[in-house]
Amino acid sequence: MRDAAAAPTRSRVLPRNDPRQYDDLVDEWWRPDGVFAMLHWLAEARAALVPPADRPDALLVDLGCGAGLLAPHVAGKGYRHVGVDLTRSALAQAAAHGVTPVNGDATAAPLANGCADVVAAGEVLEHVPQWRSAVAEACRLLRPGGLLVLDTLNDNFLSRLVAVHIGERLPTVPRGIHDPRLFVDARALVAECARHGVTLQLRGVRPEVRGLLGWLLRRARGAAGAASDGRAPRIVPTRSTAVLYQGWGVRKG
Ligand SMILES: C[S@@+](CC[C@H](N)C(=O)[O-])C[C@H]1O[C@@H](n2cnc3c(N)ncnc32)[C@H](O)[C@@H]1O
Repeated sequence: MRDAAAAPTRSRVLPRNDPRQYDDLVDEWWRPDGVFAMLHWLAEARAALVPPADRPDALLVDLGCGAGLLAPHVAGKGYRHVGVDLTRSALAQAAAHGVTPVNGDATAAPLANGCADVVAAGEVLEHVPQWRSAVAEACRLLRPGGLLVLDTLNDNFLSRLVAVHIGERLPTVPRGIHDPRLFVDARALVAECARHGVTLQLRGVRPEVRGLLGWLLRRARGAAGAASDGRAPRIVPTRSTAVLYQGWGVRKG
């Protein structure tokens, strides 16, 4: 049986990884000191992997875009930003931030083959029961020469400990949002991308420790807008991909 976990902002208890959690947390998305705070930091780090568009009408497809937290970080880069997500309440907010919303599944996006110059899949693969299908879909959407950028959680004991047993007790991650059985083995991900024509490079990432501790302290003291004062923790590279990692790679022509 699946275990359930309650978050403070929730009025009901849902199974782990139940997408209805995002409806219950709809007011949290854009709060810089809310439970999705870390997604803001990760979006900035993901966007840093996306180069400026090299042609007019370039398209960035954001699989599992949520409320469009990537949007401000890619806004000046010259892409039309299309976001695909299961959760309508999140898509409404993404649209308000300039993302063209598409309600759909990351494993079957209603978009044409090769339409995308960039596909972003940030913090979504570990929420998809068939993550291999989402990877196949991401690669299908990429034009030859197009870029895949993603970040996700590795599938091992340490990752489950850090992301679920510790992370979900911190105010930066909603409790019960992850089902650790869905975490994505880094080697399997590289192999799956290769099968679909994308040679993926990986690097581990983590929040900068001093920044994170300072942020947690300010938040615990109740400082309003703790992360909006320019002191939000940065996501920095780390040697190990054992927990949180980024991947990027170009689709072969
Ligand atoms: C942790 S949030 C990440 C959102 C966004 N990528 C970000 O980094 O801010 C996961 C998002 O994936 C969406 N999601 C989960 N499973 C999905 C699926 N099979 N297809 C499309 N979206 C999905 C959820 O609705 C949620 O918005």
